[in-house]
Amino acid sequence: MEKLIKENFELAAHQYKILAENTPADVMPRNYSPTENKFTTSKTTWWTSGFFPGSLWYIYEYTKDSAIKAEAEKRLGIIEHVKNYTGDHDLGFMIYCSFGNAYRITGKPYYKETVLTAAETLIKRYRPSIRSIQSWDSSANFRCPVIVDNMMNLELLCWASDETREPKYKVIAIDHTSTTLKNHYRSDNSSYHVVDYDLVTGKVVRKKTAQGFSDESAWARGQSWGLYGFVLMYRFTKEAQYLEHAKKISKFLLHHPNLPKDKIPYWDYNAKEIPATYRDVSAASIMASALLELGIYADKEEKKEYAKAAKKILQSLSTNTYRSMPGENSGFILKHNVGALPYNSEVDVSLTYADYYFLEALMRYRNWYLYK
Ligand code: GLY
Repeated sequence: MEKLIKENFELAAHQYKILAENTPADVMPRNYSPTENKFTTSKTTWWTSGFFPGSLWYIYEYTKDSAIKAEAEKRLGIIEHVKNYTGDHDLGFMIYCSFGNAYRITGKPYYKETVLTAAETLIKRYRPSIRSIQSWDSSANFRCPVIVDNMMNLELLCWASDETREPKYKVIAIDHTSTTLKNHYRSDNSSYHVVDYDLVTGKVVRKKTAQGFSDESAWARGQSWGLYGFVLMYRFTKEAQYLEHAKKISKFLLHHPNLPKDKIPYWDYNAKEIPATYRDVSAASIMASALLELGIYADKEEKKEYAKAAKKILQSLSTNTYRSMPGENSGFILKHNVGALPYNSEVDVSLTYADYYFLEALMRYRNWYLYK
């Protein structure tokens, strides 16, 4: 694994210099479609804007490559304003993955201030009547939608409370987690994607999917977000129920009959066309990173199972099936991701967040498992 981790970070540094060259200074990379041979960028308020700088910080942390650090700093400059963005719930993804890593690695107070401002902004979307943070604004489709992905943004809030000793952020994160546990999860420990609420009564209106195969299916990335979310909530609260729930989610995923041998999930565990359908590498890299953290809180036998599965994912992702050759795919590291198949959007493409959680998982493996 030591060799595999080194090889991946060296490739990542090479690829991300290409990705930086391909990306104009005022936007972020978003995806590359090999079928259309098309590289697409995003504006800085798009939910994925923090992953490119976040990945650059991980690559810098491993390689100490000063050109990568300079690029990371440059990209932070263009997303700083997002700390005040109230248009959706993704402040954690956008600001914690970018500025949070920058602060962790450099200790610069300005980075910390940016993350704390983002936490203050995010709690404006907390709705006391439903005891959750509203994910998307109301629309023709939803009144007050909360998506399971939102668990990921709680890391920003918990971190803010720990840094400031101001409990209000964590109180909201805990409230949100309890509501998610109650309303998003089914008896088999899979999760709905969207729960829509009535803001007046606080009641659930309906449970739907937006990006999955069907309302009752297990959309793969959503399951990984949920797993990661409950693990991180355990990290910050030591609440046994969260740990137990994370273990139950991992059991659902790792023992699912539709999880392929290489442990790279199809885009939805219940997709009708399995096995003749797309894999979602992002679901795999998020799951690997979450399992590695879950392992450090688990007993010896469970830890072995989680580490083995995460290792298998990282090994699979490091093969030519899923990983770019040097210079390929506009500079992205991984291929074969699915953004939103029902909308025919970002199907079988490279995506920034798959790369981000892959690098994070490699780091976690190195720091927590390699020499233990
Ligand atoms: N949060 C959006 C996604 O996972 O696609």
